[in-house]
Amino acid sequence: MSAKTAIDPKAFRNALGSFTTGVTIITTVSPDGEPVGMTANSFNSVSLDPPMVLWSIARSARSLAAFEASEYWAVHILSDTQEALSNRFAKSGEDKFNGLSVQAGTGGVPLLDNCCARLQCKTAVRYDGGDHIIFVGEVLAFEHTDAPPLVFHAGKYALATRKPQPFRLPAERSSPDNVAFGEDFLGYLLARAHFQFYAQMREHLVQNGIDDTEYFALTLLSLKGGRSVEEINRRFSYTGYHLTTGITSALQARGLLSVDGEGTAATCELTDAGRNLTLRLIAAAKAIEDGIVEKIGQVEAVSLKHLLKRLISETDPGLAHPWEN
Ligand SMILES: Cc1cc2nc3c(=O)[nH]c(=O)nc-3n(C[C@H](O)[C@H](O)[C@H](O)COP(=O)(O)O)c2cc1C
Repeated sequence: MSAKTAIDPKAFRNALGSFTTGVTIITTVSPDGEPVGMTANSFNSVSLDPPMVLWSIARSARSLAAFEASEYWAVHILSDTQEALSNRFAKSGEDKFNGLSVQAGTGGVPLLDNCCARLQCKTAVRYDGGDHIIFVGEVLAFEHTDAPPLVFHAGKYALATRKPQPFRLPAERSSPDNVAFGEDFLGYLLARAHFQFYAQMREHLVQNGIDDTEYFALTLLSLKGGRSVEEINRRFSYTGYHLTTGITSALQARGLLSVDGEGTAATCELTDAGRNLTLRLIAAAKAIEDGIVEKIGQVEAVSLKHLLKRLISETDPGLAHPWEN
């Protein structure tokens, strides 16, 4: 057996990719004053006292000469919304800063906006790291926000989510391995989450004498008026609710809707009173959302919305969204 195990580069890269990281853009300024930057996920913390961080750059990177020449650089820990920026700085080229708003940091280093965190650093040591060079820097200044981070895992962008606490187990069943069907069934979890959210909303509907079908029709019409009963039903076919001309006539009689024409082809429009009521109901729905986001946290809320959007698009039979024409 050979003492040296041959390492397959692709398999090695894949193995390293299972280490989940954030994504940064590291910037500096070249000796002739040009802004320079590149995407890097090799960033890591090193020391709290003194404050130090590290990252590594490929010897083949165009930006290397500038980082070697400059004493100063800035690390931008990217937020969830900065995937396009990450891609822009992951391409070798000169015009990466074109059209971006930047401020000048220590040593004239360009600083980017809207990141989770920004660290201004001064090179402390450089180490040889095989086909990379490792930069260790002292942190001179930093800023931090609560924005959800951009994550990189197995060569793809990903979301950061906290693992939930397992559900409370019934006293007679102490082992979490022996889970009941519903505890991990997507259908149950989605339905329960929906109904718990919607139960809070229903209190506002009941106070205003509005039922679920009427609420759906009013909110759809608040986005775009002039829709017929037929069209509203087509849009909401996934909900199981069914709007009838009896319901639209009742809303008309209450002064909430104006109806033009006969039968299910008649077009409906919100009156001023209907629009006022709908806006109040939408504000109540938003307040319920805010309360939930406060409980689960901004980062989780962003991740949850991403996952729900993915689920909706994966299971979509081709229905237009309410805000689409
Ligand atoms: C998520 C991600 C992380 C990366 N991390 C690093 C890194 O840590 N070090 C590195 O040298 N290149 C890294 N790269 C690749 C560089 O961003 C890429 O080679 C870039 O073109 C270098 O720019 P330059 O040639 O203009 O210097 C990464 C790319 C991506 C998409």
